[in-house]
Amino acid sequence: MQHDAFFHWRHKDLLDVDQLTREELFHLLDTAANMHEINERPVKKAPVLKGKSIVLFFAEPSTRTKTSFDMAGKRLSADTFALAKSGSSLQKGESLRDTALTLQAMNPDVIVLRHSSSGAARFLAEHLRCGVVNAGDGWHAHPTQALLDVFSLRRVWGDDFAGKTLLILGDAAHSRVCRSNVPLLHSLGVNVRLCAPRTLLPAGVENWPAEVFTDLRRAVAGVDAVMCLRLQLERQQAGLLPDLREYSKRFCLAPRHMELAAPGARILHPGPFLRGLDLSSELADSPQAIILNQVAAGVAVRMAVLFLLATRQDATPNGEC
Ligand code: CP
Repeated sequence: MQHDAFFHWRHKDLLDVDQLTREELFHLLDTAANMHEINERPVKKAPVLKGKSIVLFFAEPSTRTKTSFDMAGKRLSADTFALAKSGSSLQKGESLRDTALTLQAMNPDVIVLRHSSSGAARFLAEHLRCGVVNAGDGWHAHPTQALLDVFSLRRVWGDDFAGKTLLILGDAAHSRVCRSNVPLLHSLGVNVRLCAPRTLLPAGVENWPAEVFTDLRRAVAGVDAVMCLRLQLERQQAGLLPDLREYSKRFCLAPRHMELAAPGARILHPGPFLRGLDLSSELADSPQAIILNQVAAGVAVRMAVLFLLATRQDATPNGEC
């Protein structure tokens, strides 16, 4: 595996994308590209994290993020340990802080946390010596998802992000994926559009670096990519969407919409996706969709994140963070 051994990775934790400079972002993406190459070998294994321990603490359901972090750690020869909310002592009333301190006493190198409370990962990072990765906290942030989305777009667009237009379509109000992607894509020079019913637009969206639409046909015109979002029915208050059929008619991405996009426009979705609500089955299974490429990119990006955090040289001589 090629790696720039002279790059000093200064972050103990990955809490959101706004902590990364442009140079750090591209170092991470280049490291992920090296990891992607490992993932395409017949023997998908490198010894670089041998002896490191990674705890996967998922207090909310996950298929992609949890499995890909687990696979990422194992492919780099780390030992991974999974803990879910059900079956943990959180269910007996132990606080998140005490659970985290208990895990830290076992001396892991990195804890990956998914939690329903916004700010949970930052809270842990402030209390623990080991690295903390935010694998999704409430509505707040999902940095590794945004990084894998940019990694996936880079494989299509190269480094020509500036001037591209990307539409984020759907339930932006409840989406941590959207909250991490908008600033990251904007920082790369992408023109970001958002389209949703008014009730599913985030509060304060007028201050976001994005053009806002409620009409999908206008929003999709000329775009280079569409990122569909899942309708997060489990997080919604009653009354935000009175009629799912009406939502599907107005906001489910269908071939007739993609005819208005730029030629070769791609379709992304962080998953899990709801066929017929977030996007049509026809598009989900079409060559325009790079949804499964995003899943593969997730393993590579998470390998890069674990590698950078777990091999980081501590800033102080006694190893205190
Ligand atoms: N995109 C994403 O976070 O998916 P999971 O909930 O399956 O991890």
